[in-house]
Amino acid sequence: MKPKILTGIRPTGTLHIGHYLGMLRQTAALQDDFEVFLMIADVQALTDHFLEPQRVREAVLEVALGAFSCGIDPTKTTLFIQSLVPEIAELTVFFGNLVTVSRLEQNPTVKTEIAQKRELFGKSVTYGFLGYPLSQAADITVFDAALVPVGADQLPMIEQTREIVRKFNRLYGETLIEPEARVVDAARVRGLDGAVKMGKSLGNAVALDDSSAVVSAKVMSAVTDPLKLRLHDAGHPEVCTVFAYHELFNADNLETVAAECRAGTRGCVACKRELSAHLDAFLEPVRVRRAQLEPAATMRALLDGTQWARRVARSTMARVKRAMKLDYELEPA
Ligand code: TRP
Ligand code: SF4
Repeated sequence: MKPKILTGIRPTGTLHIGHYLGMLRQTAALQDDFEVFLMIADVQALTDHFLEPQRVREAVLEVALGAFSCGIDPTKTTLFIQSLVPEIAELTVFFGNLVTVSRLEQNPTVKTEIAQKRELFGKSVTYGFLGYPLSQAADITVFDAALVPVGADQLPMIEQTREIVRKFNRLYGETLIEPEARVVDAARVRGLDGAVKMGKSLGNAVALDDSSAVVSAKVMSAVTDPLKLRLHDAGHPEVCTVFAYHELFNADNLETVAAECRAGTRGCVACKRELSAHLDAFLEPVRVRRAQLEPAATMRALLDGTQWARRVARSTMARVKRAMKLDYELEPA
C-alpha cells in the first residue's frame, strides 16, 4: 500500500501559474509513489465566499479542468469535491471538542487572513471561518494522509492538525495518523503588479488558460524597477517583478538578463517581450491539454473520484466512531 497524500485547492476562480508552479506540479510528480487525494475545497471556499455561492460552484469545474491540464492524472489521483464527503463535516464537529477558541485565534494563518478580511467580517469573525483549521484537520485525517504538500503559509494549519491528532489519540486511543507538511517551493509567485501574492487582484495573475495575447498584455503592464525610466538607464533586477519572473521561466538566460539590465543595454519593453515568449512556451502544453478536455467527461471523472474518496472517508469514520463510543448500528428503515 502506498502512503497517502492529501492537499486542497479552494475553488474561487480560475487557476493561475502560481497554482501550477506550486502545488499542482509537485502533486503531479508524486502521483506514482503515493496515493494522492486532491480535494476541491468548496466548503472551505464558502467560509470567506459565503456571499458568492455561484462563483464557488462555477470554480469547481474550473479547478478540475485546470488540475487535469497541469498533469493531474485521474487514473492515478483521486480528485474530489469536499462538500460531497459529509464525513469531513462530521469529523470537524468532533474535533471541535479538542481545541480552544483562543488556540484558534492564535493560529497565525487564521490571524493574518482575518486581518485581510476586515471588510467581510467587520468586528467579529464568523464561527465557520475561525474554525476552518478544524475542517482542514478533518480533510487531512479522514483520508489517513501522511503527507500534505502546501505552501509555507499553510504550515500553522498542519501544526494545528498534528496537535489535534495527538490529543484525539491520547483521549480515545491510537486512531488517526499524524501528518507531515511537505513545503512546496515556488508556491508564492508574486503578482505582476508586485503584490506578494498572485491572484489577490484580478489582472495581476497569469491564468492557466490565458491566450498569448492576454499573457503579453499582462506582462507589458507589469511593474519593473521604478528608477529605470529610459531604455539606457541602468536597472536593478533585484527589485524588478519582471526579473523575478525571468528567474522562474527563463532561468537559462538569467545572467544575461541581469547583466544587460544593470549595464543599461536592455530596455524594459524588450525584456518583457522576452519574458512573454518564455511564459507562453511554458503555458502552451497546458493549453493544449486543456483544449482536449471535455467539461462533461471532466465532471464525470471528478464524481468518480468523489465516490472513492467517500468510501475511504467512511471507513476512517467507522474507526473514529468506534474509538469515541459512537458506533451504534441503525437498522435500515
Ligand atoms: N487552505 C488551503 C489553501 O488555502 C486549501 C486546503 C483546504 C488544504 N484543505 C486542505 C490544503 C487540506 C492542504 C490540506 O491553500
Ligand atoms: Fe526589469 Fe528587465 Fe527592465 Fe531590468 S530591463 S528593470 S530586469 S524589466
